[in-house]
Amino acid sequence: MKVTLIGFMGCGKSTVGKELSKLLNLPFIDLDQEIVERTGKSISELFKILREEGFREIESSTLKELLLKEESFIISAGGGTPAYGKNIKVINALSESVFLKTDFETLWERICRDPNRPLVKLGKEKVRELYFKRLPYYQRAKFTVECDGKSPEEIAREVAIKLSLPGRSGRATQKGQGDRT
Ligand code: S3P
Repeated sequence: MKVTLIGFMGCGKSTVGKELSKLLNLPFIDLDQEIVERTGKSISELFKILREEGFREIESSTLKELLLKEESFIISAGGGTPAYGKNIKVINALSESVFLKTDFETLWERICRDPNRPLVKLGKEKVRELYFKRLPYYQRAKFTVECDGKSPEEIAREVAIKLSLPGRSGRATQKGQGDRT
């Protein structure tokens, strides 16, 4: 089984991914970290050198290559990943997708002082627009977990419970259904 965690910047994809990895005893991959290791450049450097379009191309090809592997693992996507190209279709076709849903104000408080997230420089209102533009893509995940007020451990436990509900994953994969929460 492959599990892809999606959601906006600051929703805790990497932290929850590590917790889930312990719970399910599966390896954890952070897509951004994988890109940094493969290119030898930070995400901010890649945005500067290649502009966002160039970064998105690397992001899509790395994601697809990883999800096509045979092994089971948990992967955290970048906040923008599901909204570009065919990424959300690829994610849903090749993995169990989980949207970590978090209120925008909570997210902004977490990300607004982070120099490693180049898009934060756009400012709060533009980032809010981006959040609402991306929501329909996140909502296409097979599962959604409401994250406000919960610890990463609690969220990981909820994800694990949703993933283990009998029969759901098979039906979703075959019919390509949208959000079934
Ligand atoms: C981005 C989110 C980042 C990273 C890049 C672009 C986005 O990942 O991929 O800075 O477009 O929202 P996180 O969601 O892990 O911060």
